[in-house]
Amino acid sequence: MRRRLLAALSGAALAISLAACSGEGAGGGGDTSSAKPGDLTIGVSMPTQTSERWIADGNSVKEKLQAKGYKVDLQYAGDDIPTQSQQIDQMITQGADVLVIAPIDGTALSGQLQAAAAAKIPVISYDRLIRNSPNVSFYVSFDNYKVGVAQADALLVGLGLLTKDGAKGTATGPFNVELFAGSLDDNNAGFFFNGAMDTLKPYFDAGTLKVKSGQTKIEQAAILRWQQETAQKRMEDLLTSSYNDGSKVDGVLSPFDGLSRGIITALQNAGYRGGAKMPVVTGQDAEVASVKLINDGVQSSTVFKDTRLLAEQAVIAAEAFLRKEEPKANETKAYDNGVKVVPAFLLPVQTVYKEDIKSVLIDSGYLTEQEVAAGRAG
Ligand code: BGC
Repeated sequence: MRRRLLAALSGAALAISLAACSGEGAGGGGDTSSAKPGDLTIGVSMPTQTSERWIADGNSVKEKLQAKGYKVDLQYAGDDIPTQSQQIDQMITQGADVLVIAPIDGTALSGQLQAAAAAKIPVISYDRLIRNSPNVSFYVSFDNYKVGVAQADALLVGLGLLTKDGAKGTATGPFNVELFAGSLDDNNAGFFFNGAMDTLKPYFDAGTLKVKSGQTKIEQAAILRWQQETAQKRMEDLLTSSYNDGSKVDGVLSPFDGLSRGIITALQNAGYRGGAKMPVVTGQDAEVASVKLINDGVQSSTVFKDTRLLAEQAVIAAEAFLRKEEPKANETKAYDNGVKVVPAFLLPVQTVYKEDIKSVLIDSGYLTEQEVAAGRAG
């Protein structure tokens, strides 16, 4: 076992040194500050293509880097942890000069990051924080706690307990709500849930909001790998176990449009149909299928995160590292990955209700009117 490990390690070391000598990029350890962009390669590792946002992220990062003349190795891991590890291993052995990584499981990449550090390759954690490693150089993301606050606010606005400008609404409740959270291995899931729960707490304390299932812990609300089908199944189970006495669900806190679509399917199958009966369902990412649902009055809102701006920040950070400089951070306390506090650049988020679709998503060129009408990209 030990011998095999040593052989594997020396194989990796050999591959790293071969790549460094091959002239294919400066190999991270080389002097990238004086290299031409065309001689530098950025490895971009994205989690999955099942959600549009990651396709948009990957494309934006690639296009922006290529426009500046860099070579880009963009890989998607199909939400499979070993695949992502292998893809990153390969980027390292092929001499990537910077790595941009959105992890599937934030805790599963310490080995890869150690190899990157040994080859002096800076690692930018993209949108999701890589945990348990001292070798994360920088983090670019959105303000994830505020995403959760925005989702909770949107739930309250939808229920009429709050107005869009933050004043008290005219509704009094009490309302039945159910809570969903993201994948527990994604560092963002906790930020979203905490932001939302801190915002909803006074309403729970006052009895204005009730979680009839009693499932208020993130472990109970979490959906592994953010899977739509798992969310649909959990919503079905909640309806059967807690709403078979004639009571109704008034709102669902959902942290991602994909989950929201699963939740909506479960609700529709159980007879909730049409604007008046459908509970208030929140979301995130402005995925086109969900924006159509918002336009049609089925989903209540989404939180838009402009992936074009995030890609731009990743490129700015990558170029700083290539110049052997530190990228500029605007958050230096909130993102402790278990080993170190990672300096971060966080972008703001925006809530989109039906009336904001045109001004926020269409006028900015993020989606076209035709795409929204069809509920499909392209
Ligand atoms: C991202 C969200 C996304 C979710 C599921 C999170 O890490 O921040 O934007 O909805 O993953 O893909």
